Amino acid sequence: MFTHEGPTLRELAVQAFSSTMRGYDLLAPKFDLTPYRTPDRVLEAVADAVRPLGPFDRGLDVCCGTGAGVGVLRRLCRERVTGVDFSAGMLGVARAAYAGHTGGPAADWVRADALALPFRGAFDLALSFGAFGHFLPDERPGLFGQVYEALRPGGQFVFPVAAPPAVGSRAYWSLLGFDVAMRARNALWRPPFVMYYRTFPLAGVVDDLVRTGFAVRLLPLEEFGRRPDGSPRARLVVAARG
Ligand SMILES: C[S@@+](CC[C@H](N)C(=O)[O-])C[C@H]1O[C@@H](n2cnc3c(N)ncnc32)[C@H](O)[C@@H]1O
Repeated sequence: MFTHEGPTLRELAVQAFSSTMRGYDLLAPKFDLTPYRTPDRVLEAVADAVRPLGPFDRGLDVCCGTGAGVGVLRRLCRERVTGVDFSAGMLGVARAAYAGHTGGPAADWVRADALALPFRGAFDLALSFGAFGHFLPDERPGLFGQVYEALRPGGQFVFPVAAPPAVGSRAYWSLLGFDVAMRARNALWRPPFVMYYRTFPLAGVVDDLVRTGFAVRLLPLEEFGRRPDGSPRARLVVAARG
């Protein structure tokens, strides 16, 4: 939910007509007051599901923003935690938020495009929250390839994926409406702001991970319950580098 302290409608409009990177630079000071920051409930559920897959020494938060996933990594990793993002504004907020925090390894902040990560065989855990809508489907293999290279052999890439809303539900129409509006915006305006909700289908994602070389498992996140057909409302994707 948006609050009074969060971004105004005008600020959100200016952000939406900027590039993806510039948009986040502008939004950064108020990002944690928006619903776009991954909620603590999701972070907790993922931390609980990932802990038994460890132990972990070094962790990477891909598209870390203001550091939601870095907080999870600091609880799971023993040696080093790194957040990477291409927005200097978001990294600035993250750095300030974690300055002086004790408990868990200190965090490094690296400015880089996730499609060109400056790491090779450096981490045994990588995670990512809330950022895959910023990558077009044909960019996915490149993104997964970069994470694969950043991991040590045997390292694991984990992220939560929500089940799509039922066709015809209010959530279904609101996500579809958002994506249609974004496609219209990007057809008419430069630079593009890439953010789509319906471009990350689980089956296609698993196929791309497997083609990259990952061995993939799906774990139900039971905290979020089940759909009427019995399938989980949210899953943790666990992709292990061979
Ligand atoms: C919705 S925010 C999510 C931030 C954080 N992970 C969270 O869950 O709260 C998406 C983040 O992805 C970053 N991002 C988008 N495309 C990126 C790219 N190609 N390389 C690096 N960061 C990117 C944005 O700068 C932004 O900080």
